[in-house]
Amino acid sequence: MAVDGAWLVLQEGELLADSETEKSMPQTQLDPSHVMQVGMGFWPSKTLLSAVELELFTELSDDAMTAEAIRDALGLHSRGIHDFLDALVALGFLERDAEGSEGRYSNTAETAAFLDKRSPTYMGGILEMSNARLYGFWGDLTEALKTGKPQNEVKHTGKPMFEELYSDEARLEQFMDGMTGISLGNFHALAETFDFSRYETVCDVGGATGQLCAVLAGHHPHLRLTSFDLPVVAPIAERSVAAAGLDDRISVASGDFFADPLPKADVITMGMILHDWNLERKLHLIRAAYEALPDGGAYIVIENLIDDARRENAFGLMMSLNMLIEFGDAFDFTCADFAGWCREAGFRDVEVLPLAGPASAAVAYK
Ligand SMILES: C[S@@+](CC[C@H](N)C(=O)[O-])C[C@H]1O[C@@H](n2cnc3c(N)ncnc32)[C@H](O)[C@@H]1O
Repeated sequence: MAVDGAWLVLQEGELLADSETEKSMPQTQLDPSHVMQVGMGFWPSKTLLSAVELELFTELSDDAMTAEAIRDALGLHSRGIHDFLDALVALGFLERDAEGSEGRYSNTAETAAFLDKRSPTYMGGILEMSNARLYGFWGDLTEALKTGKPQNEVKHTGKPMFEELYSDEARLEQFMDGMTGISLGNFHALAETFDFSRYETVCDVGGATGQLCAVLAGHHPHLRLTSFDLPVVAPIAERSVAAAGLDDRISVASGDFFADPLPKADVITMGMILHDWNLERKLHLIRAAYEALPDGGAYIVIENLIDDARRENAFGLMMSLNMLIEFGDAFDFTCADFAGWCREAGFRDVEVLPLAGPASAAVAYK
């Protein structure tokens, strides 16, 4: 690998340093590829985010297409089309069946399943939201680190985050789709991993579109479920619960979880709720869950729980930085943190169930 200016050349694992570099570098063999890969990580990230924004993977739903046909269908300029598509091939997000302009591009198995809008397992919502919001806001991470202040839409209005976010109907829908995308795999993993047979009722607090209730209803026909969220979210949840034909099993309840008691249930779930708040508000929500449960009830949080030593779950740690960008004083936490807060609230035991990728469920029993 040659870096522009050629101060360092690395060939097949061999470090060849020039005389200046030799003086300042240790003699052991060093490999800069990880530094470069992460440092330039915004290149592949934005290439994929733009492909999702342009709905490229949906365009390729039916048939493989040539670069020219894709260019015309998406309204793109000739200059970048081959670089863009071939970069996606090299990154493993597209297939190409031949070299040259005759080559036709198609989805890989993963992009067909997860990034084609017509697929029932589409999860591009989180990437659409990241492209429209987080990609730009993360440009101000350094400022967030210096000030401890949020860098999103509230940066200049000072309004509470959800009030600001939901003041625009399209942005509310986009945020809901984002949550659907990031949470789908975790919700299925929870439905398969946790033993719901001992319980009859579940209330999902901050349930957004009602997705967790719908997934649990599908896996566990004996459960009766409630999805609880802010009033402005209720019509979206009612619409998706009705579309899934589950309105007889899932009720949609509205309220403010800081002002109202939570609906009572055998199991209280909170998917990526606690990480949105500071410690005082986290403790309020944990106490509210305790109040809403019967003895023996289970309180389940789904989060990108950070490992107790805070060394391994890089996604969880960066999710916490994302909470700095979004809220300022909100933060992600370890299982040990959660267990301590729950014991303080009166819960007996806490266990952790790994879910999809970097996410886990932590379960506290009353
Ligand atoms: C990060 S989203 C999580 C959505 C979903 N649980 C998931 O895991 O995909 C946080 C949710 O909390 C809801 N929420 C925020 N403030 C709330 C409040 N004061 N009362 C009730 N729900 C609230 C939001 O509307 C949103 O749906």
